[in-house]
Formats: sequence, structure tokens, C-alpha cells
Amino acid sequence: MDRITVRPSGPLSGRVAISGAKNSVLKLMAATTLAEGRFRLDNVPDIADVTWMAALLETMGMSVERAGQTLTVDHPPDITAEAPYELVEKMRAGIVVLGPLLARFGRARVALPGGDDFGPRPIDMHLRGLEALGARFESSHGYVTGHSDGLIGARVVLEFPSVGATENLLMAGVLAKGTTIVDNAAREPEISDLAAFLNRMGAHVLGAGSSTITIEGVEQLAPVEHVVVPDRIEAATFLAALGVTGGEITLVGARPDHMDVLCEKLGGMGMRISPDPDGLWAMARDRAHSVDVTTLPYPGLATDYLPLLVAMLAVADGVGIVTENLFAGRFRYVDELTRMGADIRTESHHAVIRGVARLSGAPVRAHDIRAGAALVVAGLGADGETVISDAHHIERGYEDLVGKLTGLGADVVAD
Ligand code: EPU
Repeated sequence: MDRITVRPSGPLSGRVAISGAKNSVLKLMAATTLAEGRFRLDNVPDIADVTWMAALLETMGMSVERAGQTLTVDHPPDITAEAPYELVEKMRAGIVVLGPLLARFGRARVALPGGDDFGPRPIDMHLRGLEALGARFESSHGYVTGHSDGLIGARVVLEFPSVGATENLLMAGVLAKGTTIVDNAAREPEISDLAAFLNRMGAHVLGAGSSTITIEGVEQLAPVEHVVVPDRIEAATFLAALGVTGGEITLVGARPDHMDVLCEKLGGMGMRISPDPDGLWAMARDRAHSVDVTTLPYPGLATDYLPLLVAMLAVADGVGIVTENLFAGRFRYVDELTRMGADIRTESHHAVIRGVARLSGAPVRAHDIRAGAALVVAGLGADGETVISDAHHIERGYEDLVGKLTGLGADVVAD
């Protein structure tokens, strides 16, 4: 799929199934490097990043098989502790194999991820945290190589609650000697999912979901079965689409308790949302009202929601000011929305969005996963055709976005 064509749509109606979370499953797959044997993951989204992570595990000597929503990972006695550039470059989450490989094998060689379309993606906090546990690193030829003679638990205070650094430390701490404490840890639901997975494997992790995570290292872990948490960002995408088109939808399998601040914000924009026995129910009747939005680490509003909310604000009633606090360069999609007639001015990490009555469909480009999804959302409320190129970015993180939106009555076609 390289292009998506979106025509004016709505109101949306019906039920849509929310897939497993990309940002959880990739880390669970990385955690399968921690123990020999057969793992089974359920509710695994069929997305390109999962395919890349599977390819990464396979280059290490593991085998990965998909049957529907189930992924089986076989970890043989010997694997290679190396993540090549070709794969880490495609999927930056590949860096989370560093912690578990070091903990298990005392060595790891992982390609440096480099920047991407929303700015630099440094890994200094990952490395400093692992160094506190006794690892030593050197960087050359685009790779970081780590060594340790056995990691030793320590207290690590993260400068910022980085999701990836917290995950690398969790997966290293579970096999380190003694106690590791991660302070100012990231609190995302995907971190709690990883901790639950590790505990099921035999680890002793306490406090995941809070700012202080305590890990008592164990000698050995064992393979397990696990169901991946639902994807709150995918759920947010359908809510943003509803905000633009109006209608009434049910997000089957969504976890409203993972999306409190978002639901509060959308409520402020005029949407009605409530938990439903099947997940989450939402209704939008009138044009949304503008609100101000600031992104923050969880439980604040996720940076990944922002492009979706900006697409809503572009056609909302009034003026909204948004502030992006996580990735300063994450506004490239704004230029694409402007091509569609949106009235948006950006200044450093702020944007001022004056809602217009209607956007106007245009050829636009998806620069990353969420930017691409935001353009699809914007296209639903634009006159004429919106043709989104480089739509392969969307497939990295969304299972069948086009099919799911079509099922809700939207006019969206992939080619
Ligand atoms: N940072 C550093 N040094 C580090 C690590 C992070 O300066 O060593 C900075 C980053 O540059 C950024 C901030 O800390 O400014 C937060 O980065 P974090 O480490 O939390 O992000 P991440 O682990 O690289 C994950 C998600 C992103 C999501 C962010 C923030 C995955 C695979 N990715 O990235 O999701 O935006 O957390 O919530 O879990 C997406 O799904 O499209 C996506 C980009």
C-alpha cells in the first residue's frame, strides 16, 4: 500500500475492533531474548513494525511464526546478540534489545538508531542507566557495543521518564544481581504490560505504572504466554475520525482507563464518551469546540495523540494552542494540513490552530505513522479527494486502518 485516497465521509457508525498495542508488542518480542524456549503472544497486531521485529529476532537465530493474531517465538539455546542497522534503521524500537541481550549474554552489539522525521532520537539515558548497572559501552562504525561481567542492581534516576530507557532498564534489571530501582520511570500502560510479561516469566518487578519501579534480579526466566494490551493510540485515531465526521461508534476491546486524559479532552471538545461493556462508546453530534492541548509523559496527553487532535482542531470551532513537549520537531504534518487549507502557525514547539469551516482535499505526504493517520482523519472532513502518498508509514503501526474505517462507513481506499 503506498497511497490512500480519502473522500468526505460521515457520520461514522458501528463497531470497530482495537488491535494489540504496537508499543507494547515490540518490547514483549524483545523480552523473548531473555529466556530459552517457546513463547506465545496473543492479540498481536498485523503491522509492519511487528514484521521487522520478527526479522530482527530471526537474524539473531530465533524463529517467529504468525497464525492470525497469535505469534509464536522459539528461542533456541544459542542466539547472536546483535541487531543490524538494516532493521534498527527501519524500526527504532529495535534499540530495546540492548538491555535484555546485555543482561543475558554479557555482550550486545546494536546499531545506533539515528534520528527520524520528528527529530533526534538519542539513547544517552538508555546507556547511562545500563552503565549504572555495570555495563560498559563503546560506539564505532554506527554501532554501540556493550559488555558486562554480570550486571549488578543499582538505583537509576532518569532525567526524563523515557519509555525506551525504562524498558531497557526493566529488561536488564530482571537478570541483574540484587535490586535495581528506576526512579522517574515512564508510567505508560505498555510499561505495565511489559512488567506483567516479565513477572509471568518469573521476574520480580514491583511498581510498574508508577514513577518508581523496583526489580529484584533472578537467576533465570522461563517462556510464557501473554495477551498484548489494546492500542490506545489506534483507539484515539478512531475517536479523532469521529470528531471530524460526527456519528456514534464503539471501540471494541479499548481500555478507557488507559485513555483518561484524552477522553477528558475530547469531552471538552464536545464529544460524548463512556466506558462500554465491550470497550468504549463515543458519539459526536456537532462541530467540535477548540481546546488547548499540551503533550506530556503518561498519564498526560501522549505526543502520539497530537497530530490526530490537530487534525480535529483544524476544523473545530475557535482557536486552539497546542504545545509539543516530547519531540520538538514533530510538526511536519502541519505543512501537509496547511496544503489542505488548515490555518495553523507553528513557533518552536507550539502551534496555533484557527479552525476553518472545511478543509479542501489535496495530494499530501505521510511523514510518519501518526502524521499519516492524522492526514486520513483530516481527509474525512475535507471537500473532494485527499490522496496520501508514502502511506506505507501508516502500515508500520496500524492494522488495516483503511478496512476498519470503511467498516464504520468512511470512504477510504488503499492502492
Ligand atoms: N530521550 C533522550 N534520551 C534518551 C531517550 C529519550 O533525550 O536516551 C528523549 C527523546 O528524544 C524524547 C523524549 O526523551 O524527547 C521521550 O522519548 P522516549 O524515550 O520516551 O520515547 P521512545 O521510547 O523513543 C516511545 C514510542 C513513541 C512515543 C514515545 C513517547 C515506542 C516504540 N515508541 O518512543 O511512539 O512517541 O515513546 O511516548 O514505544 C509511535 O508509536 O509512532 C511513536 C513514535
